[in-house]
Amino acid sequence: MSETRVPRRRRLLVCEPRHFAVQYAINPWMRPDRPVDVPLAQAQWRALIDAYRAHGHTVETVEPVPGLPDMVFAANAAVVVGGRVFGSLFKAPERRPESVPYDTWFKSAGFDVHRPEAVCEGEGDFVPAGRWILAGTGFRTTRQAHREAQEFLGVPVIALTLVDPYFYHLDTALFVLDDGTGATGQNGGTGGNIAYYPEAFSPGSREVLARLYPDAVIATREDALAFGLNSVSDGRHVFVSPGATALAEQLAHHGYLPVPVDLSEFHKAGGGIKCCTQEIRS
Ligand code: ARG
Repeated sequence: MSETRVPRRRRLLVCEPRHFAVQYAINPWMRPDRPVDVPLAQAQWRALIDAYRAHGHTVETVEPVPGLPDMVFAANAAVVVGGRVFGSLFKAPERRPESVPYDTWFKSAGFDVHRPEAVCEGEGDFVPAGRWILAGTGFRTTRQAHREAQEFLGVPVIALTLVDPYFYHLDTALFVLDDGTGATGQNGGTGGNIAYYPEAFSPGSREVLARLYPDAVIATREDALAFGLNSVSDGRHVFVSPGATALAEQLAHHGYLPVPVDLSEFHKAGGGIKCCTQEIRS
């Protein structure tokens, strides 16, 4: 079955964890009294970048800024669809300044950046899934930002309510396995598929997900707590936390190839593989 899964090369933006630290607590994972091993974090991050490149993906970097310890979580800086960059307005005042270096990077790479009026945190809560965008709310990104993103990007935005503070961003509870666009980037019309942890969502949002994705891979709480849903899939390879053992088995069963990458130091800040990875969709 894995022969039928076709990877699509991605353009990814990342930020080296040179100034990574846990200095404040804006989610339940963060404990400023518990030290981060920065050299280990750098080695783990480098292994992720090496894994992306080894699988054919293009990786670009934004220069880290001292005093912005969460800047490594590149996914939160924007959501990019069809070459349109919808920037972020972070909820936490500590993270707001991150928008400046990211917006500067996008501008120098030739993109216009839309500055949102409402609080939103990029791909942390906006998950492009082929024909639509799944959008989390409840902890960070607001419903007003969902409307703003739909208007700017011209793609239907489907709101999903998160209810568990450990899964405060949509990308901690759900990821896209396959966006249904196929190897060429053209709409294959399959609708794609996702993996998610249902209990992270309100009852109504669970129903929405069940309707949209009857064949989804359903993860356990253990998978989710191991940051297994904070994964990146290229349609064939899934860069996934090695702690999510049950999930990896399911992925293999569905014809995907799990590529384990351990970002345990980043879990201390409430982040994992996807959080460290911004996808630039042209
Ligand atoms: N400490 C960061 C925060 O709470 C972690 C962000 C993780 N990123 C993500 N895409 N979930 O904002």
